[in-house]
Amino acid sequence: MAESMTGLKRSHRCAELSEGNIGQEVTVMGWVQKSRNKGGIIFVDLRDRTGILQLIFEENDCGAESFGKAERLRSEFVIAVTGQVEARSGAANPNLKTGAIEVRAKGLRILAESETPPFPIEENSKTKEELRLKYRYLDLRRPDIQRNIMTRSQAAILTRAFLAEEGFLEIETPTLIKSTPEGARDYLVPSRVHPGSFYALPQSPQLFKQLLMCSGYDRYFQLARCYRDEDLRADRQPEFTQIDMELSFVNEEDVMEVNERLIQRLFKEICNVDIALPLPRLTWKEAMERFGSDKPDMRFGMELKDVSQAVRDCEFAVFKGALEQGGSVRGLCVEGQAGMPRKKIDALVEFAKGYGAKGLAYLAIQPDGSYKSSFAKFMTPEQLAALVDAMGGKAGDLLLFAADKNDLVFNVLGALRLEVARQLDMIPKDSWKFLWVTEFPLLEYSEEEDRYVAKHHPFTMPMDEDLALLDTDPGAVRAKAYDIVLNGTELGGGSVRIHQADIQSKMFEVLGFTPERANEQFGFLLEAFKYGVPPHAGLAYGLDRVVMWMVGADSIRDVIAFPKVKDASCLMSEAPAPVDEKQLEELGIAVAEEEE
Ligand code: AMO
Ligand code: AMP
Repeated sequence: MAESMTGLKRSHRCAELSEGNIGQEVTVMGWVQKSRNKGGIIFVDLRDRTGILQLIFEENDCGAESFGKAERLRSEFVIAVTGQVEARSGAANPNLKTGAIEVRAKGLRILAESETPPFPIEENSKTKEELRLKYRYLDLRRPDIQRNIMTRSQAAILTRAFLAEEGFLEIETPTLIKSTPEGARDYLVPSRVHPGSFYALPQSPQLFKQLLMCSGYDRYFQLARCYRDEDLRADRQPEFTQIDMELSFVNEEDVMEVNERLIQRLFKEICNVDIALPLPRLTWKEAMERFGSDKPDMRFGMELKDVSQAVRDCEFAVFKGALEQGGSVRGLCVEGQAGMPRKKIDALVEFAKGYGAKGLAYLAIQPDGSYKSSFAKFMTPEQLAALVDAMGGKAGDLLLFAADKNDLVFNVLGALRLEVARQLDMIPKDSWKFLWVTEFPLLEYSEEEDRYVAKHHPFTMPMDEDLALLDTDPGAVRAKAYDIVLNGTELGGGSVRIHQADIQSKMFEVLGFTPERANEQFGFLLEAFKYGVPPHAGLAYGLDRVVMWMVGADSIRDVIAFPKVKDASCLMSEAPAPVDEKQLEELGIAVAEEEE
């Protein structure tokens, strides 16, 4: 039977007590982690979100009634205990914050009983994630998840405090908005009042934050919930949270400067890491050429090398063909791995093929200086020497080459670089390599749509020196856009926005929007910009991704209280779910029968 807590008031959380409290009378409340009855003495581990505290029950101290209740305690019962803090009667437990003390109980109330939970509430659970997510409210009791969620709260609170200090206003923007199908797929919400019309859930507050600049709020931020109907991965959720901001009367330097200090503060206070400022910067082009990635992991070397010049005159058809088609030949030098077994090399070739490569050529420099290679027979000794030289290869190294169109070569070698580093354990732990990637291409050619699409979004400002290229060579235009990257993860990104009507119309033209269509989709923004819009720029972080790094989580689900799984469903509440016929009728919606 559950007792009330009338007349009781919690004095401390479990792990707030320490040797300094010895002798004090305290009242603690929490969950029974476990209880051991040693005949005449009962030890109970009490748990709350701060940790574990040992309680000791003896009939002489607590009386027969409380002792009788203590005998009935089971895991996950919720109890309130009043007693005295003492030095541990037995040996101290160095693994516990409260390991040197215990509370000698004088009174016990059972506030709630518990059925046996479907899995033990413990650190580093071995329980399958599906089961844990079905009972997420129990999973959330586990100490490792609780630490993650508490760190997330700390990150959010520190962010708010920092940005407020810097003169930012926290302003909410709507989450029932108009669908603007650029970027990911929208989640739609049907309107009852306007049958056949739909709201979209925002993929980000982008348009609204730009309007806030137009309205004079000057520095805005929001911890904004965003929704994107895209394929989920380890660091993606259909709904996630951005630290979103926008600033007026600034250029990209100003945005980067304040954000570097935000990141420095967050990681110092939460992880106690010192980040040197300014953060390093790479242009997108340099990042691609050196790391094959626009979010390079700089915790290790093994950079890509362009060997196109060195192989220019060779007879190897694969290299020759790629160069003739305007592509390139590039390689990775895997130090000391000349002896890598053939099977492992073959696996790397398959890995490369998974990223679209037609193959992967290799050359192992044996300790005696001779070569073992898939293509050496097509090259003269001089050509081979020049190639090895261009790679900086030495005896004992393994060289891997991809030859194809540039994009593909970068993509393949970028992924291979990470895979090889992972396999060979080359990535140092406890290393924090932040950087900015700048000068992104403004546009990307979409084969599927047969037109240019915005790489960031249609409001991103081209670089001044590239403006003229919008007419002649749109693909070569660089943007005033920047991403902040940590250890190979894109934490956030942003840009300077277009605030000039002529550049914006040009941009829409290049994107293949008729003025009518631009107006239909973004009319309110374009209209607003006619009435005095300040130059503005902004950025958004994925808060979930930031916290993942802070706590060292492998999955984004470990830092979200109630996450969704790969098919975007919630295993606990079973959303999404069919709705009543009546609800659909009200909305004027009929569900089409799925074809067999
Ligand atoms: P962007 O689309 O780059 O920019 O998003 C900003 C950051 O949000 C995070 N993020 C995600 N996190 C978890 N799950 C997802 N599905 C997901 N998608 C994105 C990433 C990313 O860097 N409005 C612009 C920002 C701006 O220009 O100011 C925007 O949304 O960490
Ligand atoms: P092939 O001539 O297709 O038998 O390929 C000879 C070698 O070159 C094999 O080791 C292939 O894996 C490799 N190879 C094939 N295509 C490419 C490519 N595009 N880039 C790098 N190596 C390749």
